[in-house]
Amino acid sequence: MTGPAGAPATDLAVNGQRRAVSDVPGALLLWALRDELGLLAAKYGCGVEQCGACMVLVDGTPRPSCRLAVRSVAGQEVTTLEALRQEPEGKRVVDALVAANAAQCGYCLPGIAVTMTWLARRAPVAWAEVVRSLDDHLCRCGSHPRILRVARQLLTDAPP
Ligand code: FES
Ligand code: FES
Repeated sequence: MTGPAGAPATDLAVNGQRRAVSDVPGALLLWALRDELGLLAAKYGCGVEQCGACMVLVDGTPRPSCRLAVRSVAGQEVTTLEALRQEPEGKRVVDALVAANAAQCGYCLPGIAVTMTWLARRAPVAWAEVVRSLDDHLCRCGSHPRILRVARQLLTDAPP
């Protein structure tokens, strides 16, 4: 398969639609989403799967997209925050984070909202699982206490 400029391309399922993206050697999902499909919620942070800024769902499971080869997710469903926030759980998560002003610069929040939406689909979940899942996310601004307060209220049945 080739793309518009004759470059190799791969057909991906992104947010419920078939989308063709470049599949040159080394093509990574994060840049296909951002640069080719204009989906900007997933962010570049560390680039080495250590910060969670680039988190998306792949077949319903959170995965950092910064080192994920485009061709490795062909045939799988990729879901970004743009689509998740249209569903009830995603909207609830985003609204709660915004209402609690649970951020400083907000750079980390889209990735965190992806993981929290994944948890919200199964809520209530154990607090230990919330902590373990959000442990994959770094917040450079130190907003973790506020983010965790929202997560505890929204995702667990533990008292705030
Ligand atoms: S940019 Fe992907 S985990 Fe940091
Ligand atoms: S609020 Fe700035 S990185 Fe988290």
